[in-house]
Amino acid sequence: SLYSDNRDGFVIIGHRGASAYHPENTMSAFRAAYEMGAEMIELDVTLSKDGIPVVIHDETLDRTTTGQGSVSDHTLEELKTLDAGSWFSAEHAGEPIPTLEEVLEFAKGKISVNIEIKTEAVTDEAWRGIEQKAWELVKKYEMEDYILFSSFDYRAIAHLKKINVDIAAALLYEKQQSGNRTPSELVEGYNADAFNCSYRQFSKRWAKEASEAGFPVFVYTVNSERLMRKMIKRGASGIFSDKPDVLKKIVENLWK
Ligand code: G3P
Ligand code: MG
Repeated sequence: SLYSDNRDGFVIIGHRGASAYHPENTMSAFRAAYEMGAEMIELDVTLSKDGIPVVIHDETLDRTTTGQGSVSDHTLEELKTLDAGSWFSAEHAGEPIPTLEEVLEFAKGKISVNIEIKTEAVTDEAWRGIEQKAWELVKKYEMEDYILFSSFDYRAIAHLKKINVDIAAALLYEKQQSGNRTPSELVEGYNADAFNCSYRQFSKRWAKEASEAGFPVFVYTVNSERLMRKMIKRGASGIFSDKPDVLKKIVENLWK
């Protein structure tokens, strides 16, 4: 695989960084994931009011920062005054919301990045918005070979492939948009490079279909050892975990 050259290409992915131990989607969470042996970090990207790709999961600021209201109603300058760490622990007070650019600058030469484009930032009207901006940053840091884009909004995948068909992009399974199509029909239909889904959705039937069609399936969000083993045995190509250190230990024992 592009992201790991051992263990049949299985990829250890830090979900929002090492988000069990550090505030999700902050530099401290990404740094910790890297230090714990994750091969990829997953992050969530949306746009600030002034159109800068910023890294935060929710559409609103309330849960993970000292701010309130929609992320997209705040300029980067305003977002940078907020504290995205103290909700998690006093020890992490003062951690800022990172921009996508700051994370890529850190990741370059160290670790692959799964850039999940949040659905609220995807539109038909300005489709070159977030997809184009994120891709320009990837090119700026020459990270093309170390990036996997993904989105629950399949239009984002179509937009990325229209910008450049070689951009690696995964469908994040979403029932409404999928209709009756199976994973391989979806992957083929969108010219996607991978299929990402919840561990609850990754059935034996889907695993068989993916392995026959030859596309990777990355499974989120798995934090227990029992489930990690089960998903690896089933054929997951990678796992998103808030505890990449736990996943790393299991992977090392399995592929010894
Ligand atoms: O990309 C995998 C996973 O992060 C998708 O769900 O809500 O955690 O972004 P969510
Ligand atoms: Mg995500």
